[in-house]
Amino acid sequence: MLKLAVFVSGRGSNLAAIVAKIKSGYLSAKVCMVVSNKKECKAFEICIDEKIPTYVVDTNDSYEDLIEILDNENIELIVLAGFLKKIPINLIQRFKNKIINIHPALLPALGGKGMYGLNVHNAVLKSSSKVSGATIHFVDEIYDNGKIIEQREVDISDVKTAEEIAAKVLKVEHELLPDVIKKFAENKIKY
Ligand code: GAR
Repeated sequence: MLKLAVFVSGRGSNLAAIVAKIKSGYLSAKVCMVVSNKKECKAFEICIDEKIPTYVVDTNDSYEDLIEILDNENIELIVLAGFLKKIPINLIQRFKNKIINIHPALLPALGGKGMYGLNVHNAVLKSSSKVSGATIHFVDEIYDNGKIIEQREVDISDVKTAEEIAAKVLKVEHELLPDVIKKFAENKIKY
C-alpha cells in the first residue's frame, strides 16, 4: 500500500477523489497525512471525516520539521493537489522524483507563478484554444517545470466561460490524479 502525503491549500476536491478511489478498492494507497499552508481550509473537513492527521506548514520556514515527520511516516509519494506555494529545495532534494503536482492546463503552456485556479482558465479562454486539460508532473525547483508524467485533454470548443472550463478540467483531474498514483503504486512510472 503506497503511503501518501497530500498537500492542499483550499477546497480539497482532488483529495476527496483520491480518498474515494482508495475506499472503492481501485487504488492501493493510504493518505497518511494532509499538509496545508492554511490553518483553516475546506480540505481539512475531509480529514476530520476520514480521520487523516493534518499538519499546517509555515511556508516561511525551512520545512525541516515537516521533513522529519514525512520521514518518520515513511511517506513514499507527496501529492500536490492544489497546493499553491513553492516547495523548498531541501524537500525537493529529500524526495527526489517522489513529489508530483496536478496542474489544471496542458503544460508546458500556461504554467508558472500565478498560474492557478481561474487565472489558468481565463488564460485558456483568451487563447481561443479548443482543448484544455490537466497535467501531472514531477516537481522541481521551478514552478510547473518538472518532467510531465501524464496529461488528459478535454474538448472546450463549446465553452463560453472560464468557470465552465474549470468544471470540465476538474472532472478530468479527479480521474487522472488517482490513475497516476495507481501507476506509482504499481511501479509503472519511469523517471
Ligand atoms: C485544482 O484544479 C488543481 O489543478 C489546481 O488547484 C485546484 C485545486 O482544487 N492547482 C493549481 O492550479 C496548481 N498550479 P481542489 O482543492 O478542489 O483539489
